[in-house]
Amino acid sequence: MSNVAVVFWSGTGNTEAMADLVAQGASAKGAKVSIIQASDFGADRLDGYDAVAFGCPAMGDEELEDTEFLPMYDEVEPLLGDRKVVLFGSYDWNDGEWMELWEQRAEAAGVNVVDSLIAKDYPDDEASAECMRVGALLA
Ligand SMILES: Cc1cc2nc3c(=O)[nH]c(=O)nc-3n(C[C@H](O)[C@H](O)[C@H](O)COP(=O)(O)O)c2cc1C
Repeated sequence: MSNVAVVFWSGTGNTEAMADLVAQGASAKGAKVSIIQASDFGADRLDGYDAVAFGCPAMGDEELEDTEFLPMYDEVEPLLGDRKVVLFGSYDWNDGEWMELWEQRAEAAGVNVVDSLIAKDYPDDEASAECMRVGALLA
């Protein structure tokens, strides 16, 4: 059985809702799933997981949240090895540039990004189905 971590930061709950749906998608395919706040995750917890979904909304100016999420991600990214990784998050007023930058960064670091997804504000039905789909990729 695949052991999946869904690690997220969310200020107003939109990315948290996505995290729950990604977790449901992985669980439905038989994975054991843990949903973990970014502030509770780090290099010391990575060993227990075969695959990781990282969720963070667009913050700053098309940036990752830099108090809790980014320090955690900076620490964990070089250690991901060949684990399957999904990147996801919510945005509002722009067009998802933060996710393009995040994917570029991860791919440059050799991360095995199997998919990514973005949702404008709270995930609607279409985005919710996408969350479930990408969660299933990690199982
Ligand atoms: C401080 C701050 C910075 C933000 N920066 C961006 C941004 O650069 N681009 C964008 O599209 N949305 C931006 N947003 C909007 C959030 O990404 C959006 O509200 C998102 O749904 C929040 O997700 P959450 O509920 O998981 O915190 C920003 C919001 C805040 C509060």
